Amino acid sequence: GLGVINIPVYVHVVYSNSNENIGNAQIASQISILNDDFRKTNNDANQVPNEFAGVAADAEFTFTLANTFRYADSRTSWGTNNAVKSAYPPVTPETHLNIWVCNIGGGILGYAQFPGGNLATDGVVCSPQYFGNVGFVSAPFDGGRTMTHEVGHYLNLRHIWGDGRCRQDDFVADTPSSDRPNYGCPSYPTAHCRSNDMTMNYMDYVNDDCMYMFSEGQKARMRAIFATGGPRASFAG
Ligand code: ARG
Ligand code: ZN
Ligand code: CA
Repeated sequence: GLGVINIPVYVHVVYSNSNENIGNAQIASQISILNDDFRKTNNDANQVPNEFAGVAADAEFTFTLANTFRYADSRTSWGTNNAVKSAYPPVTPETHLNIWVCNIGGGILGYAQFPGGNLATDGVVCSPQYFGNVGFVSAPFDGGRTMTHEVGHYLNLRHIWGDGRCRQDDFVADTPSSDRPNYGCPSYPTAHCRSNDMTMNYMDYVNDDCMYMFSEGQKARMRAIFATGGPRASFAG
């Protein structure tokens, strides 16, 4: 197997005021959360109900901060159309996860590009108040899980309900079918499509405090893109 895969990270902080110019401690907190969530060392992993505990995965990814870039810019919101990536292009996206922290606006927490897309727009964008868990953060998305979710997309994961009706697949066998996202902090069990939803999965839409697992099937799907010929094989070098 590939063993633990390390992903070096570049963080581009694009700010129009001092709050948005988040500190190094906030950036460090986000890297630490990614490391915990993708190695199943998150301190809420023990909340996974018995029904799903057997498939809760150590995804075996680690993340190291390679560099931080800071850009003052008078633009106050950047939308979801990759404008921030045109203004501040990714650095070596073949071998680094590029993250832009900037105000997206419109209540959007973050957005990501799936693997195999244009390298000029490869990476993840996150608004500063949903990045990390210290500093300029905003409840109930102040646990750094927006980035866990977005990096899941960057590593080829779909939303757990497949963005459609019961038979619409997320291409992962061990995540139960659902026909909708869950929000807030659902109690267990919450059932749709004749089975209990895995509401605590990072790829649902619940609050940061209420998501705490990837599944083994999701782990396999993420890691497959690093195999020879896969769209992120250049990282595994
Ligand atoms: N809505 C965003 C997306 O679909 C992110 C959702 C993140 N959820 C969270 N609890 N932080 O990519
Ligand atoms: Zn998403
Ligand atoms: Ca599934």
